[in-house]
Amino acid sequence: MAEGNGGNETNKKPGVIPVGIKVGSQKTVIAMGDEIHVEETCIREKENPVTGTKDYIIGNDASELYGDDVTYMLRGGLPATEEEAELLRIFLGEVAKKYGIPENSYVTYAIPSTELEEGIGLFKKVVSQVPIGWSGKEVWNDSFLASLALPEGLGILDRTYAVINLGSTTTEFVAVRKGEIVFSMVTGEVSGDVVDRWIKNEIMNLTRGAVNVDLSTAREYKEKYANLLEWKNIKETVQLFEKGQFTFRLDEAVNRPVERYLDGLIDFVTLEVLPSLAEFNFKIYRLVTGSEFVLTGGMARIPGLKEKFETKLSDALGSAIKIRVPDDPLTASAKGALTISTLRIKK
Ligand SMILES: Nc1ncnc2c1ncn2[C@@H]1O[C@H](COP(=O)(O)OP(=O)(O)OP(=O)(O)O)[C@@H](O)[C@H]1O
Ligand SMILES: [Mg+2]
Repeated sequence: MAEGNGGNETNKKPGVIPVGIKVGSQKTVIAMGDEIHVEETCIREKENPVTGTKDYIIGNDASELYGDDVTYMLRGGLPATEEEAELLRIFLGEVAKKYGIPENSYVTYAIPSTELEEGIGLFKKVVSQVPIGWSGKEVWNDSFLASLALPEGLGILDRTYAVINLGSTTTEFVAVRKGEIVFSMVTGEVSGDVVDRWIKNEIMNLTRGAVNVDLSTAREYKEKYANLLEWKNIKETVQLFEKGQFTFRLDEAVNRPVERYLDGLIDFVTLEVLPSLAEFNFKIYRLVTGSEFVLTGGMARIPGLKEKFETKLSDALGSAIKIRVPDDPLTASAKGALTISTLRIKK
């Protein structure tokens, strides 16, 4: 299999369907033709109580039926063990069936940048076992691919710029020069999942320990109500039988953690990433800080996050920084992956 941001392998055949698949710790996104599908990257094993045969429920169906009681098999977008790799293989096989991805396809996969050779090795093994992409497969960095979803498309390949990818388990920073990742840094300390935990705690605090929501509920609250543009007063009332009724400000419970997240992001970029980049390669540091930053990943969907990030980063660096966000930062890297597959088939 070819590895992106470096080389490629092509196989020109008629009737080949181009596909882009982003595999993330929380969301898997499939781009094929004009369609975009988003599935939770989770699986639930189920034993038929009558026949004893094993069966699997995957993705959104599993998450809806079983809530927190499902397995998310990836951390930082990659499997860490043979067991997780096997679950990913079953998951991707089912996803391919569900959306009718044909064997005669060219598939570009989007994955995080990582030094963990083991994780990449396991991922590539899984991909070779899923019966799609018979015409060709490639693996590229998903932060980079997201930048291909900006209006200039492949035109961005001329530039040197940074992408900050706001995921569920990790936040990734990459510096790209002419389509090549020249520097990357990742943290798990500020991430979407961490915000979910803070929201859960905030609700506990606001209700003096009475209301203890699960993490998937905290995440739903975040995805629905996080808004840094305007704090609308949103009241939530929960009825707990013996304890009585509790009302709290949902906007506070959600937006305080999101603001803390934003401050954490700014600290990560200004105190950890940029100093390391300057030390690593001062020329690239200057090009990157003199250019636009691309913000992507699901957390970049929060209204107002882009604007506040722009202001805070500009203040911290003492110069005006421009931030760009692709149309939908949650699906951008799958679209970028589709661009690569389409290009290969046209060649
Ligand atoms: N509309 C929204 N508002 C706020 N947050 C959102 C929204 N949509 C998704 N998110 C959050 O974005 C995160 C998922 O983003 P993304 O799909 O980029 O992560 P991932 O790639 O699966 O994870 P990782 O990069 O850690 O492997 C989750 O924390 C999710 O709750
Ligand atoms: Mg991601």
